[in-house]
Amino acid sequence: MGCKISKNNQSNGVNSASDNLSKENTSKFVDGRKYQQADRLDLQHYIQKNIWQNNFFAPVGHLPEQEGTKVLDVGTGAGSWLFEMAADYPKAKFIGIDISLIDSFQTKPSNAEIIKGNVLERLPFDDNTYDYVFQRILYVGIPENKWPSVINELIRVLKPDGYLELLEPDFKPNNMGPATTKITDANNSFERGLDSNICYKLQNYLEENKQLYDVHCEIKKELDAENEEELRKLSSENFTTAVMTLKPKLASIMNGI
Ligand SMILES: C[S@@+](CC[C@H](N)C(=O)[O-])C[C@H]1O[C@@H](n2cnc3c(N)ncnc32)[C@H](O)[C@@H]1O
Repeated sequence: MGCKISKNNQSNGVNSASDNLSKENTSKFVDGRKYQQADRLDLQHYIQKNIWQNNFFAPVGHLPEQEGTKVLDVGTGAGSWLFEMAADYPKAKFIGIDISLIDSFQTKPSNAEIIKGNVLERLPFDDNTYDYVFQRILYVGIPENKWPSVINELIRVLKPDGYLELLEPDFKPNNMGPATTKITDANNSFERGLDSNICYKLQNYLEENKQLYDVHCEIKKELDAENEEELRKLSSENFTTAVMTLKPKLASIMNGI
């Protein structure tokens, strides 16, 4: 189902953040209906939280209880994870960063902020700023050959003994039917350079980066949540909605398949 990796880091520390930039229009038209990207990202967050039965897997439960703790969410999207964590842990400061700012329907807690930035470039933070860096479902934004440099950048902004957590789903499951296989193949053909199986490579990338210790990988192959049926239904809805937003692109490729 996915691969979730958490770890400690050893290097050195200081801090900073930057300002909010203007939001982009993230509404999309799907079959004549105005659709907000935040809806789907909130749904995706609900699914992920229920699959893992928590908002985090790294042993960081103590950190946000401490005054002054700084948490970074890379590729925060609509801030679904960020805002929920910020509300749960009011003593900590939560910064989300994303290449594209998305209007969220959730109330922004006062200890949370979202800024614009590209993880493929240098992040706008000093070395050793964050106690905990979280990054979820960035497969879509990081070409396979860029993962080592992205991990290096995440470690740069992480404090010594801070925690880094990466969560990526397996985007090419084995049990796809013919229609899903056709759609997935079409999608992969225009997303050249992305690796739909990146989740299985992250542990190696993290271990190869010599600044980390205590690397741990968790793979969830089976759903063991009580609301398994609901999650399956919602995951299907989430997949369909995501595919619908790509309809024009996919249609042109699939007509040629
Ligand atoms: C699938 S969404 C995941 C959102 C969020 N992490 C979550 O789990 O709810 C991927 C997000 O990554 C952002 N993104 C893609 N490429 C990025 C990049 N190079 N730097 C920063 N954010 C990026 C997208 O704008 C999008 O909001």
